[in-house]
Amino acid sequence: MKFSVLRLSLGIVVPLVFSLLFVKLMPKETAMPKTYEIFGVKIHKNPNQSKLTELGVTTWPKHESGPTKIPWSFKAEETMYLVEGKVKVTVEGSVGSFEIGAGDLVVFPKGMNITWEVIEALKKHYSLKK
Ligand SMILES: *[C@@H]1O[C@H](CO)[C@@H](O)[C@H](O)[C@H]1NC(C)=O
Ligand SMILES: *[C@@H]1O[C@H](CO)[C@@H](O)[C@H](O)[C@H]1NC(C)=O
Repeated sequence: MKFSVLRLSLGIVVPLVFSLLFVKLMPKETAMPKTYEIFGVKIHKNPNQSKLTELGVTTWPKHESGPTKIPWSFKAEETMYLVEGKVKVTVEGSVGSFEIGAGDLVVFPKGMNITWEVIEALKKHYSLKK
């Protein structure tokens, strides 16, 4: 009797502890893909230093901005690397919105119209495709 109760509780408790440990130990990055595309915008979260060097990000022009909300139209494909801050991007035509922020490498396609809302003071490098 005692034995089967023990076995039963072990049968529940052990898998439970293991699954909790598993959830806890899983790095956050695996839950969220490192690179993804939303509304045709490509987002690469926290690219490594070699990727940034390969692109020459630090040689790109810099742009800084405080909180603001403006309509924006991408006349050319633009790749940007956000060093600091947070921006809410709303795609024209009620398509939807998403946020980008520090550590993100983002590519906006040519011809896209958005509302660009800086939520936290922004520092970025950008490169326009010729
Ligand atoms: C850096 O990231 C790129 C992909 O973005 C990957 O191909 C490369 O192996 C990474 N390099 C290092 C040193 O982790
Ligand atoms: C974006 O806005 C411009 C005018 O500023 C317009 O000519 C163009 O068709 C718009 N593009 C899209 C995809 O709606």
